[in-house]
Amino acid sequence: MHLTGTMTVNKDGRLEIGGITATKLVNDYGTPLLVYDEELILEKIAAFQAALAEYPGESQLIYASKAFLCRGLAAMLRKEGLALDIVSEGELARARAGNFPPEKMFFHGNNKSPAEIKKAIEEGAGRFIVDNACEARLLADISEQYEQEVACQLRVTPGIDANTHDYIKTGQKTSKFGVGIATGQAEELALWLEEQEQLNFMGLHSHIGSQIYESSTFKELIWSMAQFMLELRQKHGLKIKEINLGGGIGAPQRAEDSQVNIKNLVTEVGSELAATCKRADYPLPRLLLEPGRAIVGEAGTSLYTIGSVKRVNNSKNYVAVDGGMTDNIRPALYDANYEGFLANRCQADDDFLATVVGKCCESGDVLIKDLELPEPKAGDILTIPASGAYTYSMASNYNGIPRPAVLLVNSGQAEVLIEREKVSELYRLDTLPARFQD
Ligand SMILES: Cc1ncc(COP(=O)(O)O)c(C=O)c1O
Repeated sequence: MHLTGTMTVNKDGRLEIGGITATKLVNDYGTPLLVYDEELILEKIAAFQAALAEYPGESQLIYASKAFLCRGLAAMLRKEGLALDIVSEGELARARAGNFPPEKMFFHGNNKSPAEIKKAIEEGAGRFIVDNACEARLLADISEQYEQEVACQLRVTPGIDANTHDYIKTGQKTSKFGVGIATGQAEELALWLEEQEQLNFMGLHSHIGSQIYESSTFKELIWSMAQFMLELRQKHGLKIKEINLGGGIGAPQRAEDSQVNIKNLVTEVGSELAATCKRADYPLPRLLLEPGRAIVGEAGTSLYTIGSVKRVNNSKNYVAVDGGMTDNIRPALYDANYEGFLANRCQADDDFLATVVGKCCESGDVLIKDLELPEPKAGDILTIPASGAYTYSMASNYNGIPRPAVLLVNSGQAEVLIEREKVSELYRLDTLPARFQD
């Protein structure tokens, strides 16, 4: 059983998160329900910050809001001193509504629209992460219309093929994101950005993919970024002030998955950069990291109510829950593997092999393929721990299913971060043409 953060099993065999039983949370707020453990989020942030503090230069922890964002989380991250990676006007607006300071926002994306660029400049976004030459020209042109300098970083692809699912690899030479170091495009674009008077070119960014567990991959990344940084100085006298290593640090979803030691990994990467700079007599660049899942993945727990239980034959039993691919698309999209257990009967013997499915009209709507459970019955609460990243943020209304409620729990208190979506909200954008109204 994968117990994360403050999770415990009480003497009645019931799961507690943040000091509250899952059964109480379900009674009070219904299911499907996504519950974030505040202590665990803070613990993860503290691990990153403690390691970054050992880097002898300046540093900044950035949270990748695509993993999960709501106003409450934005406000909490602001208090903890984090910056924010945003990729759209929508994420910018949501974070602003959580009082997140725009100057600490890093605007990403491979196809920012002119309207989004203007909005972000007007709001005072702290950095633009330039993805490609086309966008660089657009940013330079638009920024001429404004008085203030626009600070930017260049996203580069170092040609690292990380050991992860193809859909979440982004550092390989042929990636959709960034410009290649090997092809010379990154060098050319870095020089071009440096020459633009209205742009303040701060440095380099790279994000090579997600769910990466090997520290050697991050060392390879810092090595190649540092070499490129030195090459830019040697060939062109261009000095890089910031190195942003993106996110991608693996977050385990099951007890059997490896745990990344955040503190060790970040410390090793920081020391590698500091040592390279010392050897080359290079002023220490500011070191930036932008993890998403490593901060919220394990802290989020999904709770569902079991409905039908169907036996097909001796080896196939379907257990259907009241959510599914609408609130967690990741098993269908990336073959993500999760673990589950019954929150109301944690200590009962597992004697039933279940395929946990959702309620959508898709055979691919499978949350967990082979899960050992106590014989389940309608009304049991199925828990999927470590499901806090890229679940709600990728949620859909397929089959007219409203999105779940989201809670923050800590020390026996539960607070609503996002209300459960109402059925009436599903068609709030529909219009009924006058000729059909009778
Ligand atoms: C540019 C960038 N930075 C950071 C992240 C965060 O990745 P993760 O949640 O795996 O840490 C992503 C994820 O797609 C990304 O695209």
